[in-house]
Order: sequence, then C-alpha cells, then structure tokens
Amino acid sequence: MNLLTLLRRPDRDARAQNRYPAGRSADAAPDRAGTDPASPRGGQVEIRGVHKSFGDLEVLRGIDLSISPGSVTAILGPSGSGKSTLLRTINHLEPLTRGLISVDGEVIGYRRDGDLLHELHERQVLRQRAAIGMVFQSFNLFAHMTALANVAEAPRRALGVPRREAEARARELLDLVGLAEKAEVYPRQLSGGQQQRVAIARALALDPKVLLFDEPTSALDPELVEEVLAVIRSLARAGTTLVIVTHEVPFARDIADTVVFMDHGRIVEQGPPAEVLDHPRHERTRAFLHRVRTGLEASPSVPDAPTDLPHHLPEDH
Ligand SMILES: Nc1ncnc2c1ncn2[C@@H]1O[C@H](COP(=O)(O)OP(=O)(O)O)[C@@H](O)[C@H]1O
Ligand SMILES: [Mg+2]
Repeated sequence: MNLLTLLRRPDRDARAQNRYPAGRSADAAPDRAGTDPASPRGGQVEIRGVHKSFGDLEVLRGIDLSISPGSVTAILGPSGSGKSTLLRTINHLEPLTRGLISVDGEVIGYRRDGDLLHELHERQVLRQRAAIGMVFQSFNLFAHMTALANVAEAPRRALGVPRREAEARARELLDLVGLAEKAEVYPRQLSGGQQQRVAIARALALDPKVLLFDEPTSALDPELVEEVLAVIRSLARAGTTLVIVTHEVPFARDIADTVVFMDHGRIVEQGPPAEVLDHPRHERTRAFLHRVRTGLEASPSVPDAPTDLPHHLPEDH
C-alpha cells in the first residue's frame, strides 16, 4: 500500500496536506450516488484509512468501516477512544488528517482533483451535511424556539422549504416521536427525554440518508432513557442508515446489525451483536463489557462539543 492522495484545505498552507493510505487512490470509490429508485434511502458509508490528530494527539489511528444502506451500527468503547471524533468526521464536523469518507460514493468534505483531495468550502459541506443528520448527547435545541420551530428551521433555512410546508412536516415528525401535543412549547418546558425526541425529529426533518447518534441517552435521567431508545428503535430499518454510539449494551444487542468496539482510536473488533457482545474475541472488549455491566464504565460527564445546528445551517440564507 503506498499512498496516493493528498488532502489540502482550501485556504490553508501546504502543511495541511496529508497522504492518503496506499492502495486506495481516491478513484477507488465509486463516483456516482445511488440513483436507483428501488434502492433504499439509506446511505452507504465507506470509511477508509481514517486518521485524525489534534496536535500531537492521534485520536483516530486508521479506521476502516463499511456501513450498508439502511443498516444499524452500534459503536461501543471506553471514554476517550475516539467514538465522538469518528462520528464527527462522518459529517465533516472534523476534517480528516488522512483517509477518506464517502456516502453513496460522494466524498465527504473534500473534492477530488486527480490524486489530490481539496477541502470543500463551507457552503458545499453544509449541503452534504443536510444528508447526514446528527443527534447529540446534550440535545442542543434552540432555547428561544418552540419545538415546532426547532424542527421546521433546518428545512426552511438549509433547503428553502416554504414555512407552511416545513411546519406541516415538522408536525408529522413530532407526532412520530410522540410529541404532537408539545409543538408549541419551548425546550425548557420539556423533560430531557422529550427534548432529545425533538432533537431526533429535527434531525429527521432534512430527510437524511444517514443519522448519527452520539450517546443520545447518556445525559438523561434513567427513567427517561427508554422513551428515547424506543424512538430510535422505531427508526431502525425504516430506510435511513443509523450509526449509534451508545453504552446501552442490551439496546445495541437488540437493534444493531453490526457492533463495533473501539479502543485507543482503532476498531478492535466488529461483527454481529451475538459475536461481539456475547463472544468477544479480544480481551479489551471483554474487559470493557465487564466494566459496563458492573457500572464502572460511566458515560463522560462532559457534554459533547457545542457544535451542531449552526454548522448545519448557512448563516446567510
Ligand atoms: N477538539 C479537540 N481538541 C483536542 N482534543 C480533542 C478534541 N476532541 C476530542 N479530543 C480528544 O480526543 C480523544 C477522543 O475523544 P472522543 O472522540 O470525544 O472520545 P469518545 O467519544 O470515545 O469518548 C480524547 O482524548 C479527547 O480529549
Ligand atoms: Mg464521546
């Protein structure tokens, strides 16, 4: 494997260039998005040789993962293993240090020019991100907007959907997550579980091909966890590709087609839940599952970075 592709940021210097791992030129991925009307709406996600460093800290150390359209992938791993960073690279909230991610063959965050990859401008990234929804641990709703407005906002601003249409769709989505009667209330008037269900409705409003969940229940009081898991369950295999970082092992066993166990920026093992959760091959997976079962592996108390909706919406639309 020799390398092949340089990553270049549009407005940065040559130091931002990085080599793409070998044997995978940028041309290896298909060029066209799936256009077959019979194919599911869910996106095919390809993660190839992804590395991510923050300064000297190498957080992702070579991630390869194929995620099928419409499938459910659960990502487990200790705090600090790089799970959030991996999710954030999928919708280009984090640029890559090396490697390539594509959804339905479209490279995310970069434009190809031969063997070079140039980082896309923000407006183009925002367009791509509309197809890749994300639900955060800490909900991140707009406090000054009603539940309805939170859900209707993105289609109006990102896609230019007329208000009436966006609101009609938002009501359907609030109904889908069991909150039809809460359309006119503000986030502070909702429980954490209800806020997270609004956040899920909001993510669905852009009709994403891929929906990413970053520990969607870890900020919730225990009695509110199940109502959010139930909503996520209802989305499974409805078309959208789901990628869920979670510490809820029984939920992962129930819902996932593939369980991925990460540690220290690498995938230690991946496979069907019955393999990875019930017959893990690696000691690190066994030790992690034991810590989760005995309550020693807690979710991080620090909320995830406060980056969400502003990144989904063009400021000047
Ligand atoms: N923006 C950032 N700047 C510097 N370090 C970061 C940043 N984001 C994450 N990290 C570090 O990367 C590592 C992995 O973090 P993260 O992806 O959040 O792990 P996980 O979600 O598995 O707990 C941690 O050591 C974290 O401190
Ligand atoms: Mg995290």
